[in-house]
Amino acid sequence: MASLTTATRALARSSAIRSTRVAALSTTATVRGDAAAPSPFKPVDSTKVPDYSKYMSKGNKNTNALISYFMVGTMGAISAAGAKDTVQEFLKNMSASADVLAMAKVEVDLATIPEGKNVIIKWRGKPVFVRHRTAAEIEEANSVKVESLRDPEQDADRVKKPEWLVMLGVCTHLGCVPIGEAGDYGGWFCPCHGSHYDISGRIRKGPAPLNLEIPAYDFPEEDKLIIG
Ligand code: FES
Repeated sequence: MASLTTATRALARSSAIRSTRVAALSTTATVRGDAAAPSPFKPVDSTKVPDYSKYMSKGNKNTNALISYFMVGTMGAISAAGAKDTVQEFLKNMSASADVLAMAKVEVDLATIPEGKNVIIKWRGKPVFVRHRTAAEIEEANSVKVESLRDPEQDADRVKKPEWLVMLGVCTHLGCVPIGEAGDYGGWFCPCHGSHYDISGRIRKGPAPLNLEIPAYDFPEEDKLIIG
């Protein structure tokens, strides 16, 4: 009889638990489906400005302004100094190094070039022709009628000293390197497509449109040439 009572109680307890679970499930379904359920958050009036008066300085307004200006000015000066250093360092890093600057200029000892001879100097990866012209060559260069030239240029405008002709050894047609002491005009001849340059490096025949280019150069001393 006692075991029957115990079994009855267990049955009743399990039935109560099952009904609680069903109730819980049905409650969840109700909450999800009910769009008009009240929000758990309180509405906030976002237009209301909090009172900061207790944080405000009680001191003199002018003194406060002075301190503010001083702080702003000091911070501005420190920032400007920092920015200046940063820009300076950046420019220093971007500028050419000493070995690159050395290559930008080439020094030539003219005493080693006999009259009537050419030398080819490599400058910034390009050939530069330096010719020690004879008096006859200078006279020939000056005797040409400039108006008849494709790229009219006086010989005197192409040299700083008549005996020294300095020019880039790059054909103005498509960039080949012309051969010295060759061609129909006793100057340079470009074998790529047959351009002839005279003893002043001016184009006289062939497809090249312009005279050979004159680079920047100077004579700092009597027998010294600086190209670049
Ligand atoms: S590159 Fe010299 S003639 Fe064409």
